[in-house]
Amino acid sequence: MLRIAIDGPAGSGKSTIAKILAKKYGLLYIDTGAMYRFAAYLMLTENMDFNELVESLKEKEITFEYKDGEQYLVVKDEIALYLKDELRSVEVTNLVSKVASNKEVRAVLTDMQKKIASENNVVMDGRDIGTVVIPDAEFKFFLNATLNERAKRRYKDFIEKGVEITFEEVLEDIKKRDEMDAKRDVAPLKKADDAIEIDTTGLTIDDVVSIIERNIGKVHR
Ligand code: CDP
Ligand code: CDP
Repeated sequence: MLRIAIDGPAGSGKSTIAKILAKKYGLLYIDTGAMYRFAAYLMLTENMDFNELVESLKEKEITFEYKDGEQYLVVKDEIALYLKDELRSVEVTNLVSKVASNKEVRAVLTDMQKKIASENNVVMDGRDIGTVVIPDAEFKFFLNATLNERAKRRYKDFIEKGVEITFEEVLEDIKKRDEMDAKRDVAPLKKADDAIEIDTTGLTIDDVVSIIERNIGKVHR
């Protein structure tokens, strides 16, 4: 089996690197952040409280699919729902860390993630993959970068998409989310003791991929 766990704070490069590794090693890429974002999206669009949300999540089958080279989170219910940009709205982003600190919500989503990782070769990114979801992953990486650099990267992403937002707003959002994610009681954002930490400040995406490949190549030939 080949299971790669990638954790780290917002803007550290997890999803960009995970997508590249998925292609290179033929792995299924699971964006666990999108699953928490979906929980927040459900709460907002269906106006649910936490009990209703947990019951609703238990009924759902969540998978990931590619359409025209883009990855969508797919919810199989009576009809299949394909979600991507909706999950990255400002409203969802503002609510997601609160939803992700709920113990019952985490229990349902963590079970789904563990099941996927037991049936597939995966690269999974999030906050608790190396510590909780796949503690026995073949490879664990913890990506980091300074707050300023991570905010700059995110700000650039927003500007390129035409989103009207200031640098200060982006910086405040990721600072607040990182704090909530690191301080919560259940499955906080934390480097697993046996994870390889990479400070990506000043590194290009290719630099980071090379470091990871060097580590994987030593063992997985
Ligand atoms: O892409 P970005 O770094 O902004 O965030 P994300 O990976 O989409 O995750 C959104 C939020 O979901 C995080 O800020 C966490 O609150 C939560 N999350 C979590 O608690 N555990 C995970 N394994 C993944 C995400
Ligand atoms: O998933 P996560 O929130 O950790 O970060 P991301 O969405 O993969 O990366 C945020 C942005 O930073 C993307 O536009 C990446 O292309 C960029 N990035 C970078 O410029 N240099 C790196 N070493 C890593 C990511």
